[in-house]
Amino acid sequence: MENIQSQSLEHTLNIGNHLGKLLSPGDVITLSGDLGAGKTTMTKGIAKGLGILAPVSSPTFTIIKEYLEGRMPLYHFDIYRLGESAIDEDLGYDEYFYGNGVCVIEWSEFIDELIPEERLHIAIRHMEEDDQHRVITFSFTDQRWKKVIEELVSICRI
Ligand SMILES: Nc1ncnc2c1ncn2[C@@H]1O[C@H](COP(=O)(O)OP(=O)(O)O)[C@@H](O)[C@H]1O
Ligand SMILES: [Mg+2]
Repeated sequence: MENIQSQSLEHTLNIGNHLGKLLSPGDVITLSGDLGAGKTTMTKGIAKGLGILAPVSSPTFTIIKEYLEGRMPLYHFDIYRLGESAIDEDLGYDEYFYGNGVCVIEWSEFIDELIPEERLHIAIRHMEEDDQHRVITFSFTDQRWKKVIEELVSICRI
C-alpha cells in the first residue's frame, strides 16, 4: 500500500498521466471515493498517459465508455447508476476484464466479486480541512503492481 498526496486537480491529472504511461494490456484499476473525490479526474489523467486525446467524461448514463485511439484500449466504467443491480446485469464484464485493454472502474464496490483479484485499487479521500487536498491510496496484492506503484511514487512524490 502506498499513499500520494494531491494538492490540486492538476496534480491528480498528473499522477493519472504518469500511471497511464506505466500500464499494460489487461490491467484492471478500481477507484473508490465519494462523489467529487476525483475518480473521473484520475481517469482523465490515465487516459492522457495512454495517449488518448479525446475528452474523457463520466460514463454515468452509459455505464461503459470505450476509448480506442490510445496505446491500448481504455474501458471506463461508472457503476454508480446501476448500484446493487449491476451485479445482475449481463454487461459482458469479462470481455473487458480479460481483454487487451485497460479497465478503469468507478464505484467498483457494486460488482466487486466479478472483478479479477489482480487489480490495482485506488482510494481517493477528500480532506475536510482543505478543499483541494486529496489522499490517494494505492493497494494491490500483485508483485507487478508493487513495481508499477513504486515507480509512480518515485516520480510523483515531491
Ligand atoms: N486534488 C484534487 N484532485 C481531484 N479533483 C479535485 C482536487 N481538488 C479539487 N478537485 C475538484 O473535485 C472534483 C472531482 O470531480 P470528479 O473527478 O468528477 O469526482 P468523482 O468522479 O470522484 O465523482 C472536480 O470538481 C475537481 O475540480
Ligand atoms: Mg466520476
